[in-house]
Formats: sequence, structure tokens, C-alpha cells
Amino acid sequence: MKLFLDTAEVDLIRRFVPWGVVDGVTTNPSLIAKSGRIHEEVIREICGIVDGPVSAEVTATDAEGMVREGVRLAAIHPNVVVKVPLIEAGLVATRTLAGRKIRTNVTLCFSANQALLAAKAGASFVSPFIGRLDDIGQRGMDVIEDVMAIYRAYPTIKTEVIVASVRHPEHTREAGRLGAHICTVPPKLLDQMVAHPMTDKGLAAFLADWEKAKKSAPAPTAAPAARPAPARA
Ligand code: E4P
Repeated sequence: MKLFLDTAEVDLIRRFVPWGVVDGVTTNPSLIAKSGRIHEEVIREICGIVDGPVSAEVTATDAEGMVREGVRLAAIHPNVVVKVPLIEAGLVATRTLAGRKIRTNVTLCFSANQALLAAKAGASFVSPFIGRLDDIGQRGMDVIEDVMAIYRAYPTIKTEVIVASVRHPEHTREAGRLGAHICTVPPKLLDQMVAHPMTDKGLAAFLADWEKAKKSAPAPTAAPAARPAPARA
């Protein structure tokens, strides 16, 4: 399963890229607003840091406006994927952008039927929002299970599923078990995923034993002198 970082904070992206686990980045208008920076500038900078798809979202709500914005965003870098909301105009824009070979990530998906429509419209990616469904008392992962089953049943569907609105490590574990293509995670989740108290405890014990062994080890002896080569007959 690929992992995308769900953030527009370039310092955090720079911190996690050396881990070798970041396959792409997703942003949305709220994350861009939080960064306090100009949309195009941040997206360009992220594309310079991460070698993978970088989702940049349109804010127009009509198809024509979405396409216009999408074309502008896609021109920033070949890795830009245009994010469009899963509404009627978003499907029209997805189809139009696909016709121009511009990749889309259809976002704000909350049901398997919506994901089916996104795929049929030609979306490169679809983003079901798991955490927001959990927040209203539904099991978000059930949507992922359904979408994966539907997409698998029709091998002509090439749309990749991005598990989005991820809140905790259980979400990434379940997304992997269900065979989701991608999980987009907030940076703090990578910290949670890497950490385990038993790893820390085990490492502390290994290092303590190593120090003890070094102190009680006998002093190294001088290397034995080289033996002369036997005389040849
Ligand atoms: C990703 O593409 C989404 O924009 C993001 O995961 C939404 O997450 P949230 O529900 O935590 O805002």
C-alpha cells in the first residue's frame, strides 16, 4: 500500500521524505489555508520535495471553473493531480480533464456508489473520507471494503482508492488488510505508526547489555606473530 502525506506543511514533508515511505502528498483548501501560503507556490515546492502524485484541489463549484483551475494547477508540475469534489459538476470536470490527459483525485467521497461514478467518469484516484464517517457514527472502513470489492469485480476500472480522513493507526492497518491502493495520512500518524513501547524497551536493554559486556570483557591480546611459510621441496 502506498502512503501519501496529508499536509501542506513543507517542513513536515521534508522531515518524513528521508524515511523512504512517502509516495505522494494530498492537500485540500483547509490545509493550504492553514499553511498561510499561496496555493501555487506551496504545490510547486511540494513537487520539488516529493517524487510522486501531489493533489491540489480546485475551489470552483461549476464544471467549467473546475476545468479552468485544474488546467492551471496541472501546469505547475507533471506530478500534480487535480482534486475535484464528488458533485455533479465534479464528475463533468473529471471527464473533461481525463480527456485532456490530466489526472484527477475525486474527493469528498462518502459512499461506494459515489466511488463507482468517479471511476466511470475517469478519475485517476478517488478519496473516501473514513474518519468523517466514523465521526457521524458510521463505519468508514465499510465503504473501503465495498469500493475495493466493486473495483475488483470490474478489472477495467483503473481508479486507485485513497483512504482519506485517516485518524489513527487502526485505519492504516485496516486499509492495508483490505488491499486499498493508498492511504493518505496526517504527519503525526507516521510518528504513531513507527513507535512501539516494546521497541524502545528492547533497544534500551540491548544497549545496556552491550555496555555491560564491553566493561567486563578481557583486554584484547596482541595478534599472534605470522608463521614463516614452509620451505618448498
Ligand atoms: C485528503 O485528501 C483529505 O482532504 C483529508 O484526508 C481530509 O481529512 P480530515 O477529515 O481529517 O479533514
